[in-house]
Amino acid sequence: MKATATANANIALVKYWGKRDEKLILPTNSSISMTTDKMTTTTTVEFGKKYKSDIFVLNGKKISGKESKNVQKHLGLIRKICKKKEKARVESTNNFPTAAGLASSASGFAALTLAATHALCVSFDKKHLSIIARQGSGSACRSIFGGFAEWKHGEKSDGTDSYAHQIAPAEYWKEFTMIATVVFAGEKKIKSRAGMKQTVKTSPLYKSWLETAGNDLNSMRKGIFAKNFPIVGKTAESNALKMHATMFTTKPPIIYWSPATIKVIKAVQELRESGTECYFTMDAGPQVKVLCLKKNAKKIQAKLSNLTEVQKTILCAPGSHAKISLEHLF
Ligand code: PMV
Repeated sequence: MKATATANANIALVKYWGKRDEKLILPTNSSISMTTDKMTTTTTVEFGKKYKSDIFVLNGKKISGKESKNVQKHLGLIRKICKKKEKARVESTNNFPTAAGLASSASGFAALTLAATHALCVSFDKKHLSIIARQGSGSACRSIFGGFAEWKHGEKSDGTDSYAHQIAPAEYWKEFTMIATVVFAGEKKIKSRAGMKQTVKTSPLYKSWLETAGNDLNSMRKGIFAKNFPIVGKTAESNALKMHATMFTTKPPIIYWSPATIKVIKAVQELRESGTECYFTMDAGPQVKVLCLKKNAKKIQAKLSNLTEVQKTILCAPGSHAKISLEHLF
């Protein structure tokens, strides 16, 4: 009744922003991501009669309120699917900042899904794990897979055709590098769940976001298959800017950017103008993730680390799928 899993955060190269079903977490558009090899959540789950209610401990701190509610809800879903009743103790650690726009909910719900189903002795294939993880946090369905993954929005109202699959393994493109710059490690004020709901409802640009998603997905897929870095970088950058344009035009506006965000973006543009190819992408937070090839990574990392606004840089390559670990946290 006890199991531990690790999962890595994934960063979308073509973003998911908006749901067609809030409860089942079904997206309005498909998305493509890279699972990283560095930003990892480790989660141990133990079910048992000795637990009177679900307990959630994150980075050594007992969590209550909304964050623990989402975990309890996910445990409830897994209990229902596995036809079990016992409550659980969940302990999780992240080796990177939590809820700061670095995809900790993706690695978190992927690790929780794998550990909890394993602890209940039910073994699901990756497709089903992806469907379950999606209902914890949408982007988590991609972290079940390593390398590059695509999450299909699906058509069905029950969500059985909305899951991720791998489009290329990590080994396929080892030179592809992502440098996550941490400019502010605190928790964001507007969670992506609430933010995207408001965007779908009020942004006049949301229609064009949806109309252009298909082209971005086609270019990204082609770029990854051909290992064509300029296509992947340019498509990712323009897709992220489009997503932020829908956020800026939401009522009331959602602005995740800070002055430090602009400083990093400017540094990326300067590097590019001086002949070092790199592009940026951003999620629901102020952190900028810089895409480059391995041969340029150290130089770019050194320049970004020199900015006073940058507290930390994390250099990531394409990483592994969610895995069972034999080392428990408790
Ligand atoms: O799955 P959520 O609720 O963490 O939403 C993720 C949203 C973005 O990170 C902005 C985009 C994405 O596709 O990961």
